[in-house]
Amino acid sequence: MATARPVLRRSVSSAAIYAREGRVLDVACGTGRNFRSLTSASEVVGIDISEEMLVHARNELGRLDLEGTVQQMDAQALDFPDDSFDTVISSFSTCTFPDPIAALHEMDRVCTPDGEILLLEHRRSDAAPLARFQDWRAESHYEKTGCRLTHDPLSTVEQAGLPVEDVSTAFFGLVTTIDVIPR
Ligand SMILES: C[S@@+](CC[C@H](N)C(=O)[O-])C[C@H]1O[C@@H](n2cnc3c(N)ncnc32)[C@H](O)[C@@H]1O
Repeated sequence: MATARPVLRRSVSSAAIYAREGRVLDVACGTGRNFRSLTSASEVVGIDISEEMLVHARNELGRLDLEGTVQQMDAQALDFPDDSFDTVISSFSTCTFPDPIAALHEMDRVCTPDGEILLLEHRRSDAAPLARFQDWRAESHYEKTGCRLTHDPLSTVEQAGLPVEDVSTAFFGLVTTIDVIPR
């Protein structure tokens, strides 16, 4: 089995999650921003619902000369067999899935039981002024982008019934990494 350890991002815009080896799935990979952190993986597979995003992700995979593919797919119904990845990563994604619990169950299903599921998410800040600003913007932000600005990703993971190994927060609690133990 591959070993992988989450490392909190040095900055929000740089890569968040480092997987050292094995088959890695990036769920809702967007433009492939995480791929630069996955250069030690034997294979990187990125999926996203948006073909527009995948054009960039495909270029990024090629630019980094990584073994792997990007595919258009719904995170809530992954077209992969059970236990087919050593590590599943996903960043800033559960806020946009219509059914984030279904997506988390799918991540769990395709991840080998001795692997890791690494999430990097934004959340409602621990700092009252920031949280108030997020509350104020939440509705219009959702209407514009489909992103739930003030969601609580840890609570979603708990509702999905998935065990959590480690949680870190940064940037006044705006950003969190959640290390989920696959079953
Ligand atoms: C905020 S972006 C994050 C992209 C990337 N993970 C990153 O950190 O830069 C959210 C991504 O989720 C994708 N997405 C939304 N719903 C999805 C779904 N049901 N299945 C797969 N991807 C989805 C969007 O197309 C978008 O690329």
